[in-house]
Amino acid sequence: MPATFELIAPCFFGCESTAGFELRRLGAEDLRVTDGRLTFRGGADLIAAANLNLRTVERVLLLLASYRADTFDELFDGVYAIPWEELLPADAAFPVKGSSLNSKLSSVPACQSIIKKAIVKRLMRGHRTSVLPETGSEYRVQFLLRKDQCEIMLDTSGEGLHKRGYRRNAMEAPLRETLAATIADLGRVRRDSLVEDPFCGSGTLVIEAAQKALNIAPGLHRRFAAEHYSFVPAQVWARQRQKALEEIKQDAAFEGYGYDIDPAAIQLAQANARLAGVDKRCRFEVADVAGFAPRPQAIVLTNPPYGERMSTIDGAARLARTFGRQMEANPCAGVYVITADMEFEAHYGRRATKRRKMYNGMIPCQVYMYYDAPAAKTARPMPKEGFDGRRARPKGQEQDR
Ligand SMILES: C[S@@+](CC[C@H](N)C(=O)[O-])C[C@H]1O[C@@H](n2cnc3c(N)ncnc32)[C@H](O)[C@@H]1O
Repeated sequence: MPATFELIAPCFFGCESTAGFELRRLGAEDLRVTDGRLTFRGGADLIAAANLNLRTVERVLLLLASYRADTFDELFDGVYAIPWEELLPADAAFPVKGSSLNSKLSSVPACQSIIKKAIVKRLMRGHRTSVLPETGSEYRVQFLLRKDQCEIMLDTSGEGLHKRGYRRNAMEAPLRETLAATIADLGRVRRDSLVEDPFCGSGTLVIEAAQKALNIAPGLHRRFAAEHYSFVPAQVWARQRQKALEEIKQDAAFEGYGYDIDPAAIQLAQANARLAGVDKRCRFEVADVAGFAPRPQAIVLTNPPYGERMSTIDGAARLARTFGRQMEANPCAGVYVITADMEFEAHYGRRATKRRKMYNGMIPCQVYMYYDAPAAKTARPMPKEGFDGRRARPKGQEQDR
């Protein structure tokens, strides 16, 4: 078994640079970043650390082989050459999944079956057995064929890394946790930040910001496929979990506030924050964006209703206008909005300082960043106790609805 592995972390478009920064911090070697994925090298400790700590990638895969495959024979031989008996025990279950694009071997089921046959043959030889019951732990094999170039990979994550374990239920149109974490990074959320979200839904942005500020590893409350793998021993996982626990910044001054017009969303956000271990730092309240008045030092991270998935296009545009007016009347440290509304700037009433393309699932979105907002004329300091509930609406402020 090699001491270092070639690893791949796929991510959503737009998350690459944040993911690269996270990986460098974890000590990944030979890091290469391309659209939608990061490739790097590291040992068993890095496999555990990456799964536990990465906030912005979808999973961590072990790259076992990369070669050209124009024919089924070449595909078979490349898979058979991998020392599967060193990776998988004789009772391992090993489902094969994958995809093929612009390749001669275009039938995914046919490729799956060839790959499975090659693994079976190699395992029978390696383990000197004629029976592979597949009753043991699961080792998910993935293949990727692109322009006749084949990659064979082993999944180390199991469920996608966006499944942190705190979001048991979600409202309609929740934001993926990995995207929310990327937006918190774009907003430069730090240990002493104050974050507000006027359209918080199930609370994802506030919760991800809190976990980042407190340096709570997103994978602390879940399990990973590679916890069953002999080449990532239990003591490696225990060491990395302990390290992650010790690195939590209990003394961080972070505060998070989420608001939503829907009481069911607020209940859900509160429950999720409890499960995520950040409920003491986050407060969620029912409120209409028409009364939103963030604190001057706030970083606003938000995901307003999309025309496509929620309400109507006109309704979403009206809400963006109301939100824009509230922000104009109540300037704060920065505003970061992820939306599929391509006319958002016109509706909000201001051009963004910067924009970034992203995908929320299959939906193309933009993150509109406003971080040069003029400082409030009279800074209103936070009370020492922290939470003080919502600020009253300034007198004479126009009401939109
Ligand atoms: C796209 S969802 C936010 C999803 C959230 N980021 C999550 O991950 O669950 C938009 C939210 O805006 C809320 N909303 C709609 N109209 C509102 C209003 N006038 N004021 C405040 N919230 C509103 C909806 O109830 C919904 O929860």
